[in-house]
Amino acid sequence: MPDAVRPLIVANWKMHPLSMRAAGALFKKVVRGARGVRGIDIVIAPPVPFLGALQRAAGSVSLGAQDMFWERSGAYTGEISPAMLKDFGVRSCIIGHSERRRFLGETDEMINRKIKAAVQSGITPILAIGETERESHEVVPPTIAEELTRGLHGIAPRRLLGMAVAYEPVWAIGTGHPDTPDNATRRAIYIRKILVKLLGARVAGTIRILYGGSVNAKNAATFFSRDIRGIDGLLVGGASLDPEGFTRILQSVAGHRRRSAPR
Ligand code: PGA
Repeated sequence: MPDAVRPLIVANWKMHPLSMRAAGALFKKVVRGARGVRGIDIVIAPPVPFLGALQRAAGSVSLGAQDMFWERSGAYTGEISPAMLKDFGVRSCIIGHSERRRFLGETDEMINRKIKAAVQSGITPILAIGETERESHEVVPPTIAEELTRGLHGIAPRRLLGMAVAYEPVWAIGTGHPDTPDNATRRAIYIRKILVKLLGARVAGTIRILYGGSVNAKNAATFFSRDIRGIDGLLVGGASLDPEGFTRILQSVAGHRRRSAPR
């Protein structure tokens, strides 16, 4: 991976674990594991009810959220304001995860509003996109371009400096069957091309493209290419709930980065 790009590893805990006690214990272990790892940005996105207690223990990892609402306040039962997330010390937020698109009916238009609200509130969006099984063998799955174009519609490019895009083919999430590093890299290159077209080369160059879908300690480093700019980071679901395994993911990415740095 080109040396200038600092890898970003995001842990998406989804709806786990089931108690504050378990969340606190997991977080502590993750922070401890991250302590010796250099040169990587680490974000932990726990369920919202745990955010308040975890913010005190954040250490070298930063806190993320798994979703947020597009309004700052008002009569929106059950929703979470970006201002509330900020107050918890949250710096970034996954927006448009395929599970929300599928189970909660999130549309590209809703996702677009959330991204606008995130950047307005100073929260870095991590826009999740990805094709379904049907398109997985197409050279250029139309879903990728559509989700990107609609998700980022009408936002001034400079507001998107430093955001992230997570490429997560739906068929690879939680299945134990990840995409191949070659294919993920090809998709990352295609995504960056679209970003350049939408936002210009300068802003697109600051956007880290992550791969997500059945990442584990064994395959994590394989997604990073040594000589071209492809995948810049990972969005890790299931494997982020095992602190030892997650630490191994961090270590293997850091080790890969050291080996590929120019001498
Ligand atoms: P997984 O989930 O690592 O369990 O496949 C990734 C994600 O959905 O973010």
